[in-house]
Amino acid sequence: MGFLNVLHIKLRQQTVVKLQACIRLLKKLEDICLSSPLQPAQSNLYEGKVILAPMVKLGRLPMRLLALKYGADLVYTDEIFSQQLKHCTRTKDDRLGLVNFTCGDFHLFQTCAAERKKVILQMGTNDPDEALEAAKLVQNDVLGIDVNFGCPTPNAELSQTGAFLLNRPDLVVQILRKLVNNLSVPVTCKIRVLPDIKETLELVRRIESTGVSALGVHGRLRVERRNVAVRVNEIKAITEAVSIPVIANGGSLEYINTFDDIIHFREKTNSLSVMVAQSAIKNTSVFRKNGVLPIHKVIQDYVTLVS
Ligand SMILES: Cc1cc2nc3c(=O)[nH]c(=O)nc-3n(C[C@H](O)[C@H](O)[C@H](O)COP(=O)(O)O)c2cc1C
Repeated sequence: MGFLNVLHIKLRQQTVVKLQACIRLLKKLEDICLSSPLQPAQSNLYEGKVILAPMVKLGRLPMRLLALKYGADLVYTDEIFSQQLKHCTRTKDDRLGLVNFTCGDFHLFQTCAAERKKVILQMGTNDPDEALEAAKLVQNDVLGIDVNFGCPTPNAELSQTGAFLLNRPDLVVQILRKLVNNLSVPVTCKIRVLPDIKETLELVRRIESTGVSALGVHGRLRVERRNVAVRVNEIKAITEAVSIPVIANGGSLEYINTFDDIIHFREKTNSLSVMVAQSAIKNTSVFRKNGVLPIHKVIQDYVTLVS
């Protein structure tokens, strides 16, 4: 073989190697593009916040407005299932200043201008496509979308949603990634802790990798009820494992009766924010920096709001 032929073959081999490197680089770029969210995570929205936690039946518009009146920074809706939400029709009631998402003759979600930049819709789902379809319908009327991976009830078991997805981390990641990559509002989720702290930390790191803006943590296991002490140290360990804001939850019965208690719970758990459920049921003015109000005054304020 002549010198020129050898040179030619060598050059062709080098070209092939270079082309292969280019293809690998393009593939990497494609991966990055596919996994990069429509908007960067807006973590600061969830920093230093005192939040009304999601509550089925209770976390409707009147209670959310009451919590905001007393000083809550953000309010979560009750859990709304993607399966139902995707069938809703959006209508405006100009007389009452309401936006209604109606399914049949039932308002699944009602909102208004006063909570526009403060309300997070919590969704129950186990299907990435359905979750996206439902979230797209409401994203212009809410601050953010949260997915509930913390519900331990028999209904959640039946529908395989909530905390019953915590042992299916691939599906958790698929749902969150689908939402983060395709919505124009921040996405968060709420979890419970797992029996093995190592598995919990692995899970939260995977959740963080989806690009969610914050992580709500109810510091109890799926099988634990309110009579079991909240796992403060596990919430703390989670805050050390991720760099997105952690919203600590589960402190109502042991720790939280006043606004100052909320701040102490935040410090105790090393979290950036706290969400409160049962203490807010007991007296929604728990969010007041100047102290809780007598319950008759809270009832008066509630009645004024709904009338
Ligand atoms: C009446 C009621 C309804 C609840 N509904 C929901 C819900 O829809 N979604 C959710 O993630 N958690 C729900 N939870 C759990 C709370 O958000 C919260 O995680 C739990 O009560 C622990 O917080 P706490 O100690 O502040 O009460 C509910 C709790 C109560 C008491």
